[in-house]
Amino acid sequence: MKIAFGCDHGGWPLRDTIIQALRDSRHEVLDLGPESPESSDYPDYANAVARAVVEGKADLGVLACGTGIGMAISANKVPGAYAANVSDTYSARMAREHNGANILTLGGRTLGTEVAREVLQAFVESEVSPLVRHQRRRKKIKGVEQANAQ
Ligand code: RB5
Repeated sequence: MKIAFGCDHGGWPLRDTIIQALRDSRHEVLDLGPESPESSDYPDYANAVARAVVEGKADLGVLACGTGIGMAISANKVPGAYAANVSDTYSARMAREHNGANILTLGGRTLGTEVAREVLQAFVESEVSPLVRHQRRRKKIKGVEQANAQ
């Protein structure tokens, strides 16, 4: 798969781990920055990665900031982006299978590199469930998005 990646300075400690883990699993990484650990603003990278995913330039997105929260809040403002801030492998799997998340956000100040690697792997290797009840609920999420579009 092609996976878009972005982080801020808070997520920088996970950057190399994430990119290397994806490449080791033979995924192509679309690195949307930054290029250094200087202080930066997470909404800029969340927007870039979310847009890459909804525009079909990437199959999935991965974002990292201090907690993963700011990245998730920002990415979820892009219609069609479904970002989940996850810190355990079960939630990573559920985020894909049940919720249809297309972006994973991770916390560089809350997760060690080994846990982050496992959460990432669980997310990327899981597939969206075709079960009707899950489809119905995901459709309702889209309905909420459309009903509130400006
Ligand atoms: C930056 O200090 C920090 O606020 C950011 O990385 C992130 O944790 C926001 O959610």
